[in-house]
Amino acid sequence: MATAGKLADTLDEALWFGEDDPASSDEQAQASMAAEVARISGLKPFPVVATRVLDALNQQDYSVAWVANLIESDPALASMVLRLANSAMYGRAGGYQHVDEAIVRVGGRRVRDMVSAAATMQMFNDLQGIASTFRDHCAATAAIVRVLDQHYELPGEHSLFLAGLLHDIGKLLLAETREFDYTRLSPQDLCTPDVIHRLERQELGYDHAVLGAHVLQAWTIPEPIPKIVAWHHQPTRAYAADGAIGTQVALLRIADRIAWYLAQTLMPAKFPEFLASTAEARWLSLKVDDIEGMWTRMVESRGEIMSIFT
Ligand SMILES: [Fe+2]
Ligand SMILES: [Fe+2]
Repeated sequence: MATAGKLADTLDEALWFGEDDPASSDEQAQASMAAEVARISGLKPFPVVATRVLDALNQQDYSVAWVANLIESDPALASMVLRLANSAMYGRAGGYQHVDEAIVRVGGRRVRDMVSAAATMQMFNDLQGIASTFRDHCAATAAIVRVLDQHYELPGEHSLFLAGLLHDIGKLLLAETREFDYTRLSPQDLCTPDVIHRLERQELGYDHAVLGAHVLQAWTIPEPIPKIVAWHHQPTRAYAADGAIGTQVALLRIADRIAWYLAQTLMPAKFPEFLASTAEARWLSLKVDDIEGMWTRMVESRGEIMSIFT
């Protein structure tokens, strides 16, 4: 296990707060977060089978049969991966019975994302109370951002589904390790985007976004996912960085808002109009018609992923 001191020395400045944030110079907060990353890495290692699968799928010339056997050595993991591969979110093209078929037809990179998602959900399948609400929110955000991703058809390879699933993993970890007590927050604060991370910073000196990003790095989840996670509450930094990251952070923030909205029993009126007025929607040129056109698929995808992961 890495020591806190070693991690503090190697803490990734690119994932820390922006220049405009006074906390960026707070060495005590960085050291305290590094200690927490080290503690979590020891308490919550990424599952061995999933790590071996990711290592293999990151190679150019992996053996499909070998990777499929490895995934199938964990029946619960294999079952979740097959359900994802057969879901409407991924086209439901195959009706795949076996993991090797899914790898060949869906592709190694997407299967890598599905394995990472399924392994992470397994790590947190016994959460209770607010923490289980956060886990469901992560799953819902993944499903919704997948629909947005298909609508925008971003060029190049990207893993927005996985970024959505992992975006609030820092909250799950802070709740599970009892580093931050979310139970004393008001229901309003708990489901309002861009509030909780400020309260975490006030108390801890860091927030779930930067903590989560560093834990994902320790788990060797590839870039740009840690960066997207680190910046999901620092959108101006993401928009200033480059177009690709800015667009992915904006899509994730839209999905985040929709996921919270769909989890509420009392739905505010004119939500699509509100959503279209946000900075991220303006960044994406997302209009009310676009949102309404995707709405049914987003609701169905959210329901589908809940049935797979919960
Ligand atoms: Fe967040
Ligand atoms: Fe979120």
